[in-house]
Amino acid sequence: MQLPTIGVVGCGLMGSGIAEVFARAGCTVLVHEADATAAACGRDRIAASLRRAVSSGKLSREDADAASARIEIGTDLSALAPVRLCIEAVSEDEGIKIALFNELDQVVESGDAILASNTSSVPIMKLGTATSRPHQVIGMHFFNPVPVLPLVELVPSLLTSAEVEATVRGLAEGLLGKTVIRSPDRAGFVVNALLVPYLLSAIRMVESGFASPEEIDAGIVNGCAHPMGPLRLTDLIGVDTVAAIASSMYSEFKEPLYSPPPMLLRMVDAGLFGRKSGRGFYEYGSA
Ligand SMILES: NC(=O)c1ccc[n+]([C@@H]2O[C@H](COP(=O)([O-])OP(=O)(O)OC[C@H]3O[C@@H](n4cnc5c(N)ncnc54)[C@H](O)[C@@H]3O)[C@@H](O)[C@H]2O)c1
Repeated sequence: MQLPTIGVVGCGLMGSGIAEVFARAGCTVLVHEADATAAACGRDRIAASLRRAVSSGKLSREDADAASARIEIGTDLSALAPVRLCIEAVSEDEGIKIALFNELDQVVESGDAILASNTSSVPIMKLGTATSRPHQVIGMHFFNPVPVLPLVELVPSLLTSAEVEATVRGLAEGLLGKTVIRSPDRAGFVVNALLVPYLLSAIRMVESGFASPEEIDAGIVNGCAHPMGPLRLTDLIGVDTVAAIASSMYSEFKEPLYSPPPMLLRMVDAGLFGRKSGRGFYEYGSA
């Protein structure tokens, strides 16, 4: 089988993981970042993740080197012209994503190339209608860390073609070995519709002084057998990303349980983004 050339836009927590899994599966991956500093961070993040996979025995050094050699990271969007599938993984900002889909539609040359988004909450329909090919636009929602967590939520819009959905499902399951669930095109999809109200409830508990992050996380880890508690998980996902997802869900459903608590919004204002910035509900040695 001829493997498709993959485009990835944004090389943060998620884009770096998405680029890595496709490269490990044998694809050439062309990554676009906003600027040279972000591109260098993305390159370092992928290298660190491949090193972890080698040292834990999940990947040979040769395979890690080969995967690394298949990834090209740059800052010129037109380099993505030859891709067959492009996955957008930039910050969770509807305006940025819509503008990007409009640009990608013009840059990606093949008329039948697929434009996918890793968004957690922006309607796929809004991204599709920013292009001339809404039937070839789909949500492909990976989970963090991408090389470790098996789930992909597949989110067709009302206009996505059945053929595109089948192709993307085939790549996620067959090429990447992921477990796929299908979600309707509603802010939060299946998993975040359940997860985000839980994270926000934990933040409200901290905000009201009901319990500390340490107490809440110890309660959930030791009492419910979750691998980590909700405050540590918020730090892992990104405080800014959780706030953005909650805001989109609140704006779609107007349900108070999705409304981001003031404490979360002030943490975003302060740049306390969690693990990736070095401080969120907890402090981390290095970002
Ligand atoms: N963090 C998670 O756990 C998680 C899980 C699933 C999905 N998502 C979704 O994945 C997407 C990315 O999230 P993340 O956690 O990787 O965020 P992040 O902040 O770690 O990375 C975002 C990256 O996008 C880059 N970027 C911003 N604008 C750009 C542009 N116009 N062109 C190119 N690059 C640009 C930034 O430089 C940054 O490197 C969001 O839509 C988010 O909702 C996140």
